[in-house]
Amino acid sequence: MKSYSPYSGIEETCFIKGKSGMYYPGVRVENISFPLSISAIQAAICSCLANGDRPVSINQLTEESELSSHWIEEFELSFFTTEPDTDDFFNPLIEPSGNINSILKKLTAKSVTIHSGFPVSVLLNVGKGYIEGVNIETRIWSLGLCAERVAIARAVAAGFTEFKSIHVYAPKGDFCSPCGACRQVMSEFMPNSVAELHHGDGTLSKHTIAQLLPFGFTSASLMS
Ligand code: THU
Repeated sequence: MKSYSPYSGIEETCFIKGKSGMYYPGVRVENISFPLSISAIQAAICSCLANGDRPVSINQLTEESELSSHWIEEFELSFFTTEPDTDDFFNPLIEPSGNINSILKKLTAKSVTIHSGFPVSVLLNVGKGYIEGVNIETRIWSLGLCAERVAIARAVAAGFTEFKSIHVYAPKGDFCSPCGACRQVMSEFMPNSVAELHHGDGTLSKHTIAQLLPFGFTSASLMS
């Protein structure tokens, strides 16, 4: 497992064990806009919650993960030291059979929207298949993740960093439009790929990420 840490070089990976017995990998996913970076523990916990599971324990972290004490207290996590069996790894990759729109509709059932009641679902095309994502809201508003970022964090933990396209669905409201933070995170990995937006009124629109985020922030001087 490898972090995406082109700016700091910090390797940060972890596993969260869910109540189901499944293990959810998480890696650090940095962004050129540093505050939008996702820590390994946040990624793994959101992945677990996005599978309808409950985090119960964590392995020893490779580095002191950002906000790890918050997450450990919040979910009363215990620690495990044994190497997880790969058979018990959560596999985020699916080969969609049938209509993408109907898969997205079903997927919204996995959203955790304790504050907003506004579900969002995503299918991220990584070439070999699709990675599912739903929005996760946690007690602390700012520590949840949008559906797009759950899918990207899962994809990076699974070893993918090139994404062909992303499908986004938001059933509430007529128009589905990724937030500014997700546009920024998508532009890190897939600036020229297409976002297919499945609107609540049944229509579809397609835009490259560069079209969604014109004049995005770049600076070669930030690479480590
Ligand atoms: N949300 C997403 O999942 N993706 C977006 O691009 C827009 C916002 C979620 C986050 C939060 O759970 C809810 O929608 C309201 O902001």
